Amino acid sequence: MEYTISKAFHKGRSFIVSDRIREDMSLFAIGDLHLHYGSELKARMQLSDPAWADHEEKFMDNCKRLIEDQDVLVLVGDHSWGKNLQECEKDFEYIRLLPGKKILTRGNHDMFWDAKKTARLNELYGPDLTFLQDDYFPYGDIALVASKGYSFEGPFYLDRKGKVIGYDEKDKEHADKLVKREEERLIASFEKARGDGYKKFIMFLHYPPTNVLEKDSAFTRLASRYDVLQVIYAHCHGKKRFFDSIQGKYRGREYSLVSGDYLNWVPKKIM
Ligand SMILES: [Fe+2]
Ligand SMILES: [Fe+2]
Repeated sequence: MEYTISKAFHKGRSFIVSDRIREDMSLFAIGDLHLHYGSELKARMQLSDPAWADHEEKFMDNCKRLIEDQDVLVLVGDHSWGKNLQECEKDFEYIRLLPGKKILTRGNHDMFWDAKKTARLNELYGPDLTFLQDDYFPYGDIALVASKGYSFEGPFYLDRKGKVIGYDEKDKEHADKLVKREEERLIASFEKARGDGYKKFIMFLHYPPTNVLEKDSAFTRLASRYDVLQVIYAHCHGKKRFFDSIQGKYRGREYSLVSGDYLNWVPKKIM
């Protein structure tokens, strides 16, 4: 069975793939590729942790095995160590060679990406790559909505047993401002999709939805407010960080960590 999305939804959009979305289409996600084909490698972890050995080849092979041309692959931030577009060119070339339609969302290390200049990125690299920011991407009758998100990562003060007993107030104040900004961006994206008739959503964050101290956050509340089907996030890499935030069913929706090393470079099929 096939179904058609109204062309009106796509009018003027720079990332139209097709008006027809097939039932055999799948949605995949992964984050934190941290490519460095044209730039300096900036994390020792990538050299010392066996999980990162030849990760580019492993990921390419897994994608070719699992992803078909009609599928959509969402790359959930921290794409490249490149500081500017020139340093990212080879990394984008690698991403371009992956199968499926590639959607990129912003991560904290994506220095090449000024949120206000996202339209320019889409002009330069679209339609092969879609940079998703302050907007939504239509996947059938579901709107994919994305933001870098933010979660306060300390400094936390610990007691002798390692229990968190406080945190740096000034840093927390700054973090709250960043959370507010990302929250506003997400609300604008959800509302834009709603205005175009979408009722179903998947929310992509780069940062985890909550930090190690939180049970709820602005982002979990947004997930409830817009009744999102799934929350997908990355950023937590290295074994010690994998369970920093929510995973599995929580308050009626599914939360998944998709950082590359957590998934052992196998893109997660989320739909
Ligand atoms: Fe990362
Ligand atoms: Fe990150």
